Amino acid sequence: MSCHCDEQKPQELNLIEEFPDKRKKLEEYIQSLDIGNNREKNRGLLIQSLHKAQDIFGYLPLCVQLFVADKLKLHLSEVYGVISFYSYFTDKPVGKYKIHVCTGTACFVKGAGAVLDEFKRYLNLEVGETSADRKFSLNSLRCVGACSLAPVVMVNDKVYGKVTAKMVPDIINECA
Ligand code: FES
Repeated sequence: MSCHCDEQKPQELNLIEEFPDKRKKLEEYIQSLDIGNNREKNRGLLIQSLHKAQDIFGYLPLCVQLFVADKLKLHLSEVYGVISFYSYFTDKPVGKYKIHVCTGTACFVKGAGAVLDEFKRYLNLEVGETSADRKFSLNSLRCVGACSLAPVVMVNDKVYGKVTAKMVPDIINECA
């Protein structure tokens, strides 16, 4: 009996092939670095290369990871290891509006759980998911250092303090 798993999987967009301008930009950046045959040294250039790649493509799917690994002459597993270690990097598409609900202790005590639940309900997303139109991503994080404003929500770089579940629709509408 043959397996049809692949037929059910959505095809991942190959960003490297689909966006030659972006590919060129990343290639030129990596070429401007001091790449040699010393893998140890090249590994030291990995984080900045991934930063650039994520800036350009928005996230780091497998095709971008392979591209970076190839240019730096590293193994894919080394690239993936860095991406999975640093929470800044993501291999999933992210929304134009990145919503982060702080669930650190101070925020949690002041009701961040209810705020997060309301975002989930309103956007019909779970934590870590992005809406189909790539408009919103929903995530939680631990203490953003603004505990006096608890509960805190960040939308991209904008900080909302003393957030209640009732404020959620207004916060989302501000993104429109
Ligand atoms: S716990 Fe949320 S800002 Fe500190």
